[in-house]
Amino acid sequence: MLKRTRQILFLLILVVALPLASGASEAKHAAKDGKKPAILLVTFGTSVASAQTAFANIEQQVRKAYPDTEIRWAYTSKMIRKKLAKEGKILDSPEIALARLMDEGYPKVVMQSLHMIPGQEFHEIYTNGKLFSQMSGGFEQVQVSLPLLANDAAMDKTLDIVAARIVPTERQPGEAVVLMGHGTHHPSDAIYSALMLKAQKMDANMYVATVEGAPAFDEVKADLVKKGIKKAYLIPLMTVAGDHARNDMAGDEPDSWKSRLKQVGVESVPVLKGLAEFDPIVDLWLENLQTAMARMQ
Ligand code: CO
Repeated sequence: MLKRTRQILFLLILVVALPLASGASEAKHAAKDGKKPAILLVTFGTSVASAQTAFANIEQQVRKAYPDTEIRWAYTSKMIRKKLAKEGKILDSPEIALARLMDEGYPKVVMQSLHMIPGQEFHEIYTNGKLFSQMSGGFEQVQVSLPLLANDAAMDKTLDIVAARIVPTERQPGEAVVLMGHGTHHPSDAIYSALMLKAQKMDANMYVATVEGAPAFDEVKADLVKKGIKKAYLIPLMTVAGDHARNDMAGDEPDSWKSRLKQVGVESVPVLKGLAEFDPIVDLWLENLQTAMARMQ
């Protein structure tokens, strides 16, 4: 009980003392290093080497937009980092990457979420970014920039780009397009259902289904059967065409989407490209980055 009271007292002192201290330390920082804000690109990560093309493309676009800026990467997936470490590739977690930047004296950082939706991972980096910004003697500012599907307009733009640039041009009328979202237990899973509604309004044969959330693939499959559709283009609604795209979507295992469609007489054509391989999609992430960078001035 006494310990708890002491903790509360300590927090109260912090709350009172922080605003008094921050003004002075900010001025000191600016004079001390004069470094530009750094950009930390934060993604789930991938262990599929060929999926790296997507990351290389993002980095190139970000470098073009922000020359002479320190750009770093961090992977949120512990599993992917562990797997890569075994191959000798060391990737930082967002927290380690922030600690390094802080240690090297960068006064400001923008963390750009390269996730699709503001789900669990986005909220984790948001919370930890804010906590880093409160550390004494560290950053003056940490901005956490939104993922791709963060608002209504971004959803519309993403679907427009998918329809115009990613759906293969050989698609004939009456053939379906099924976008594979990841899906999540997080409430932001609802974004995929919103996207499904928009896709259906745009094109009655365009669907959104997810691996781990809603809409479920079986619902979409049932609809294709009901409509008598014989061919479907499968497209990952993911940053990279990694393990889910290669195996759960396009794999030869009996439980892949391709196999499950084959079982009901629907031929599928998988598109094995991540969204980040398409510049107009990268531009949408860049718009979010620009907004966050502008807040830094
Ligand atoms: Co997954």
